[in-house]
Amino acid sequence: MERLVIEGGRRLAGSLRVHGSKNAALPILAAVTMADEETLIRDVPNLEDIHVMLDILRSVGAKVRYVDHQVYIDPTSIETTVIPDHLMSQMRSSIFLMGPLLARFGMVRISKPGGCSIGSRPIDFHLKGLEQLGAEVIDRHGYIECRANRLRGGAIFLDFPSVGATENLMMAACLAEGETVIGNAAREPEIRDLAAFLTTLGARISGAGDDTIVIEGVRRLHGGQFDVSPDRIVTGTLLIAGAVTGGHVVLTNVRPSDSTAVIMKLREAGVQISASRDILEVRESSELRAIDRVQTAPFPGFPTDLQAPLMALLSMAKGTSIVSETVFEDRFRHVPELLRMGASIKVDLRTAFVRGVKELSGAPVSATDLRAGAALVVAGDDIVARTKGRRARASPFSTVCYCTLWNIVDA
Ligand code: UD1
Repeated sequence: MERLVIEGGRRLAGSLRVHGSKNAALPILAAVTMADEETLIRDVPNLEDIHVMLDILRSVGAKVRYVDHQVYIDPTSIETTVIPDHLMSQMRSSIFLMGPLLARFGMVRISKPGGCSIGSRPIDFHLKGLEQLGAEVIDRHGYIECRANRLRGGAIFLDFPSVGATENLMMAACLAEGETVIGNAAREPEIRDLAAFLTTLGARISGAGDDTIVIEGVRRLHGGQFDVSPDRIVTGTLLIAGAVTGGHVVLTNVRPSDSTAVIMKLREAGVQISASRDILEVRESSELRAIDRVQTAPFPGFPTDLQAPLMALLSMAKGTSIVSETVFEDRFRHVPELLRMGASIKVDLRTAFVRGVKELSGAPVSATDLRAGAALVVAGDDIVARTKGRRARASPFSTVCYCTLWNIVDA
């Protein structure tokens, strides 16, 4: 899908079940390579990145079947631990295979991922951590090769609570000899999900979801079955889309406690949200208001993946909002696109000053990454006019947003 044409002005209304999380599913699929029996993962979203990961698993010899959001993987036939370049280059998340393949087979070779559209995205924490577990890491000619007869547990401290590094090292440590302690670990819900899955396979992990994770290595991981948790980023994006169109949206299969920062910020902007155990509901909001300040941060802070969609909403909120991006160094590439649609935004280094305008107008725009694309879809949806402080639908013909999606990378 290279091009989306969005005709704005429709109020979103209805109920939707949120699917399993992409960011949780990707490391879980990589972790399956450590098991020595068939494994079933359920609620795996039907997305391009997921299929690239499944192709990578097939390319190393695993038997994989994807049927209706369920993935059966038999890793017992894996015969190589060299990831083909053409698959590696399609998806950054292939680096999740480093820890598991190294731990299980003693060697892994990948082509080195480059920077991407949200920043330079180094993998130094992953490599340093693997070295601390006893791996020899050879970084030459654009390839990274890691070797170790058997990894041994150790103490790792991350300079920043990187989600991917925490996941990679937690996976590797499961089959290492002895105890591993990961300090300053990421606390994202996807870490908890991965730890719960690994535990199902027989791993011994405590502290996942806190900033110190302790893993007691085991000799083998067996098969098992697991349900991936709902996608909190999709949840947030749909809440924002519902709010922007003045709609009434009910989301089921959600975990409100994973979206606390987003719910609080949307309420601050005047959005009416109610939450129950596994349901979130956005009701027609009156006027959207600017937010004093929102700053992205590792969980439980405001997620960087929702910064662009939130900015699309704030572009139409009354007053000036301040949005700071602290996680990635180059994650404002959606700003010029929103400007093309009539937004008023000024950027100073990692802070954007967003002055709300009455409405946006359709324009041809480009999405530089997945979440920026989501922001532009959200912006394209909004053409509601505000009369006397109430939101009313404008003519469906007044705005057509041509959103050309190209060069999209996974984040
Ligand atoms: C994951 C998510 C992504 C989300 C991000 C932050 C997946 C597939 N992707 O990406 O959607 O936006 O978490 O919540 O789960 N860093 C280093 N060295 C490293 C690793 C990271 O300097 O070795 C830096 C990064 O450049 C970035 C920061 O740490 O500035 C956070 O990155 P990280 O948490 O690792 O993000 P990802 O795991 O790549």
